[in-house]
Amino acid sequence: MTRVRIAPVADFPAEAGLRIEVADHRIAMFRVGADFYAIGDRCSHAEASLAEGEVFDDEVECPRHGAAFGLADGEARTLPATSPVPVYEVDVEDDVVYLTIDEES
Ligand code: FES
Repeated sequence: MTRVRIAPVADFPAEAGLRIEVADHRIAMFRVGADFYAIGDRCSHAEASLAEGEVFDDEVECPRHGAAFGLADGEARTLPATSPVPVYEVDVEDDVVYLTIDEES
C-alpha cells in the first residue's frame, strides 16, 4: 500500500471530477460537499473517463452512455454498465487530500 499526496482540499472542484494517474492507475476523484471519493476513471462498459461525468448526489454518470456508478462503492447502478469500477481509499489530513493505492491491484 502506498499513500500519495494528491492536492490541497481547496484545489478540488466541487461536484466535479478530477482525473489523476498514480502508479499506472487511472483514477477519477470527486469532492461532494466535505466528502472525497476516488474510483477507477475508466468506465467498465467501454472507453470513457468517469472524471468527465456529471455528479448526482452519491453517483457519477458516465459521459458516453449514461451508466451511473456509486462514488463510495464503485458499483454500476444503471445499464449499460454491469461491472463495478475499482474504489480507492481517500483521506484528508491538514487540509490535504491523500490517496492510498494497493500496488497489487
Ligand atoms: S462507456 Fe460508460 S456507459 Fe458506455
